[in-house]
Amino acid sequence: MFVDRVLSGMRPTGALHLGHYHGVLKNWTKLQHEYECFFFVADWHALTTHYDTPEVIEENVWDMIVDWLAAGVDPSQATLFIQSQLPEHAELHLLLSMITPLGWLERVPTYKDQQEKLAEKDLSTYGFLGYPLLQSADILIYRANLVPVGEDQVPHIEFTREIARRFNHIYGREPGFEEKAEAAIKKLGSKRSRHYVELRTRYQEQGDHDALEAARALIEEAQNLSMGDRERLFGYIEGGGKMILSEPRALLTEASRMPGLDGQKMSKSYNNTISLREDTDSVVKKIRTMPTDPARVRRTDPGDPEKCPVWQLHQVYSNDSMRQWVQEGCRSAGIGCLECKQPVIDAVLDEQRPMRERAEEYLRDPTLVKNIIADGAEKARALAQDTMRDVREAMGLRYG
Ligand code: TRP
Ligand code: SF4
Repeated sequence: MFVDRVLSGMRPTGALHLGHYHGVLKNWTKLQHEYECFFFVADWHALTTHYDTPEVIEENVWDMIVDWLAAGVDPSQATLFIQSQLPEHAELHLLLSMITPLGWLERVPTYKDQQEKLAEKDLSTYGFLGYPLLQSADILIYRANLVPVGEDQVPHIEFTREIARRFNHIYGREPGFEEKAEAAIKKLGSKRSRHYVELRTRYQEQGDHDALEAARALIEEAQNLSMGDRERLFGYIEGGGKMILSEPRALLTEASRMPGLDGQKMSKSYNNTISLREDTDSVVKKIRTMPTDPARVRRTDPGDPEKCPVWQLHQVYSNDSMRQWVQEGCRSAGIGCLECKQPVIDAVLDEQRPMRERAEEYLRDPTLVKNIIADGAEKARALAQDTMRDVREAMGLRYG
């Protein structure tokens, strides 16, 4: 049976905070039960922007993996690894670079955006320009079809699809492809093969994307097809060659706007974060000293939750009756701000407790983490090598 394969990466450029938990990790812990999942530390991607401070990356890699595990990413469900331990990614990046038009890279919106945003860094490097292509290699090497990412990363997935299509178009024409594809159609059985031919014609003559999807689904469902035939049939729908690299699609992560301590989005650059496993005292202190509605100078002054960052945290953590208590108590000066903050403090600590507990074991025995990563690398390598064999062969690099 065809199993959806999910792949996602995270750059180790700083300690993870509750924004990452709500925005990314909670989603990963859900996906790991639904799909075959690969999650990796994108340390080479981190180097594209932090090439002059490699110590930052080094420091954060293991901490970040502990954070993942603490958040509930389960190494018996998902495969976890570190990008730089799989040099196959670099090889694929290099080979794909041969067919990547410069203009495609220059037009990826994050290229100029990030250069402007990180103006203090010199990002006019070859490595940074190639960032999306390295990401494509990460994805294509596992033939992952689903990539959970935020909105900002969607252009990178689109770019990856274009690279895969271009690669297949250039290198997917094995000798006798048509004959082999026609023979593969016969193996579908008479009803299915008739349906396949109809859908293919509909797609090729009318550009009907539903037909394309339906034909793909039909192949996915078909039993007894070899991997090669399956790929030929995928490729044949579009008329091209054999599908050596498969096009992924973005699994858009719902934007979660986790508010920070000052009411802006929680982000390292705003200095308003609570880290994932921050110690209890520090969490209490940070929330207790959070700014509130500036109109509430004295305890007896009524306030407006809409003007208060604490209210935003209640929207994340509190149920309806608690929210009503805040609304009424604040507007009537019936409750004080510290009183109002206490349930938020409790909720954050409750959320962090299992994370702290899970992390403890790994911090006590770091070899556990090393072993998880070594196992992950081994599993990843088997798939990566498989793809690289096909890619090298397609590009004429199989000697002897
Ligand atoms: N560029 C991604 C980010 O900044 C990280 C990343 C690298 C990634 N390679 C990937 C995400 C492959 C998904 C798939 O968030
Ligand atoms: Fe903010 Fe609560 Fe104080 Fe109102 S009572 S200003 S919502 S902390």
